[in-house]
Amino acid sequence: MNDLSAAVTRLPIAGGLIPAIGLGTFRLTGASAVESISSALSLGYRHLDTAAMYENEAEVGAGLRASGVPRDEVFITTKVWTTDIAPGDLQASAQASLGRLKLDQVDLLLIHWPNKSIPLATSIEALCDAKRRGYARNIGVANFPSEMLDDAVRLAALHGEKIATNQCEYHPRLSQTKVLEACRKHGVVFVSYCPLGQGRMTDDDAIAPIAARHGKTPSQIVLRWHVQQGVAAIPKAASAGHQRDNLDVFGFTLPEDDMRVISALARHDGRLVKPGFGPEWDR
Ligand SMILES: NC(=O)c1ccc[n+]([C@@H]2O[C@H](COP(=O)([O-])OP(=O)(O)OC[C@H]3O[C@@H](n4cnc5c(N)ncnc54)[C@H](OP(=O)(O)O)[C@@H]3O)[C@@H](O)[C@H]2O)c1
Repeated sequence: MNDLSAAVTRLPIAGGLIPAIGLGTFRLTGASAVESISSALSLGYRHLDTAAMYENEAEVGAGLRASGVPRDEVFITTKVWTTDIAPGDLQASAQASLGRLKLDQVDLLLIHWPNKSIPLATSIEALCDAKRRGYARNIGVANFPSEMLDDAVRLAALHGEKIATNQCEYHPRLSQTKVLEACRKHGVVFVSYCPLGQGRMTDDDAIAPIAARHGKTPSQIVLRWHVQQGVAAIPKAASAGHQRDNLDVFGFTLPEDDMRVISALARHDGRLVKPGFGPEWDR
């Protein structure tokens, strides 16, 4: 199979470039996770998304080593769980993640979710400290609504650091206009999680005819819609077939009419990930 890595667009972030398509790894565990990650890297994926909470960092590291792809060619993100973002706890979590990954440094370290009981200023200071200690080349946040992102960017700047990304749910059924605007205003890359709506978008009645017209799969149409907005996406796919589909989205363009039809699928009840401890979302 051809290695598609050269075709993948890379988006500039604070410290380097982030490939616009990465492999989401939530719920990939055990030996099959090592296999999936190694297969993705041989297809050309150069961006892997994991988290302490996924309990698969050891498998992500093992998959990287099994693939034979050099470490410096792969962008690896991990995240600190929301209960661990107080000063001290955050740095300890990052160090433990590096131990499980068997890496000296990740490319991006994220606060996984904000935490109402821990002052944001102290979490951002700890995140900046983790970067200064060399645990991560870049730092960022996830699940931050627009005004909270404004605060995070301002607080990081007090320590001379930049928030590189905000990782949030995004797919055609969920509008993210305000978060996208805030990201663009601050030069923060929006990374889309659940970009396929946890698989629901792959059999959407409105996407199917667009896919047929372009000779592409529905998932390729949805991921192309993301990358044409300058957004990075981290679809999870266990099988090589789905992984290949999802990476092969850089050789065609969706006309504006199709982009508009897809964006018009947004609905008020489109959000899929809404835990009780989550923040007040933008409306
Ligand atoms: N920061 C956060 O709070 C947060 C929250 C949720 C998720 N995430 C990250 O985002 C990643 C992606 O989100 P997600 O896994 O929830 O949802 P998703 O990527 O939107 O959807 C994954 C589902 O789509 C299926 N699929 C993938 N490619 C396909 C294709 N080409 N054709 C048909 N079906 C396809 C997968 O099945 P197969 O596996 O069988 O291919 C899986 O069932 C996660 O793995 C995680 O890394 C982050």
